[in-house]
Amino acid sequence: MKLCMIGTGYVGLVSGVCFSDLGNDVICVDRDIQKIDGLKKGVIPIYEPGLDELVLKNYKNKRLKFSTDLKNSISKSDIIFICVGTPTKKKDNSADLSQIYNVAKEIRSSISKFKIIITKSTVPVTTGDEIEKIISQKVSKKLFSVVSNPEFLREGEAIRDFIYPDRVVIGTNDKKSNRILKNLYSPLTSKGAKFVNTSRRAAELIKYASNAFLATKITFINELANLCEKIDVNIEDISIGMGLDKRIGGRFLRAGPAYGGSCFPKDTKAVVTTADKFNTSLSVIKSVIKSNQNRSSLLLKRVFNILKNKVKGKKICFLGVTFKANTDDMRDSSSLSMIPSLIKKGAKINYFDPTGEKDEFKKIKNVKFSDSINLAIKDSDLIIIHTEWNDFKSINFKKEVNKKNFVIFDMRNIYSPTKMRNLKIKYFGIGR
Ligand code: UDX
Repeated sequence: MKLCMIGTGYVGLVSGVCFSDLGNDVICVDRDIQKIDGLKKGVIPIYEPGLDELVLKNYKNKRLKFSTDLKNSISKSDIIFICVGTPTKKKDNSADLSQIYNVAKEIRSSISKFKIIITKSTVPVTTGDEIEKIISQKVSKKLFSVVSNPEFLREGEAIRDFIYPDRVVIGTNDKKSNRILKNLYSPLTSKGAKFVNTSRRAAELIKYASNAFLATKITFINELANLCEKIDVNIEDISIGMGLDKRIGGRFLRAGPAYGGSCFPKDTKAVVTTADKFNTSLSVIKSVIKSNQNRSSLLLKRVFNILKNKVKGKKICFLGVTFKANTDDMRDSSSLSMIPSLIKKGAKINYFDPTGEKDEFKKIKNVKFSDSINLAIKDSDLIIIHTEWNDFKSINFKKEVNKKNFVIFDMRNIYSPTKMRNLKIKYFGIGR
């Protein structure tokens, strides 16, 4: 099939490359000339394990093309995926849909034969209706169908998540589009992924509901971890004990820092705003957002306690600063609020991240990037394990850290408290 992905950000690029690998002809379009030129030369704008090889392979065999010419790319394609950003509007926390509607206007001037137009970007309920309205102002409804097909890709696992999804959700009442899309996704559904056909509005909401629910699970376990710390119970026992109940499930029950990234913070806010517009209060999600926003200051207080409130002049090392492992993404990472707060209190920060130095910290005095784990930790008073990269899982702290009484605060519970005790290392985790 001939596909066009509009927007070569995380979703558009990964989906486009994977579709081409499944044998489709894909054009990935972006208005960013530099990005497209880079992609043609094999420069991948995001960090995603395995993506560069897949781009190279499919670009070489010419199933994957990159272009800045939107009109031409649309007219050559049968299925158009809208994959542009829907960031949070500062004013009212709703999703900014200006890029989506601009693309809809561009699409309507390039339709001369039937096309399926798909929103893969996360868009609030009724956005599909609006896109349909915009296009139908210039094009007969017989010539297009607007479908919602949300993505559920995790950064760092995006290729695997694309190839082995739990489900493919197609939101349309149009039988022809549904048939075509069932066919497009058949290589995945034949391997076990469930194919769910719903109304367009339901598909739009499924995406928000899924992310808000996962954010709720994480927040739930994070709050229980706070209790566990006070009653000498290990949160991991609770996660296992709860998670074995099939109605609950064990995934996304790992306690840690505040959840971050490009989706959970943005989507929880957007779904609450959408519901408010329809005079419905999503009070559970509202308190999840609040609890998560408070989490970084709560963990900071814990850091102050660990240091017995003597933060000034202390050398604190962060292992990992992105919002989670296997990504270079800093969006809504809790390190962005924690590091400046520690600096304000007079701490000196050294950090190491496997994805390199971060622009966000370059201008902050007393924040230094070290290009190896050993260099980063060697003079530390306190080591904060902020993300769960494999690189951090078997460090010989006793050998590598010069300070005698150094402390470890493991925010991802990577290490065993018993082993640390046996090694006589002062060690704190989350919820245990
Ligand atoms: C998420 C969704 O999982 C994905 O389906 C959606 O399409 C995009 O948003 P992503 O943001 O890449 O993916 O990261 P994810 O792995 O879901 O983690 C999100 C946040 O939750 C991270 O900050 C992570 O550290 C945190 N998390 C996750 C926990 O704290 N505990 C867990 O058990 C799981």
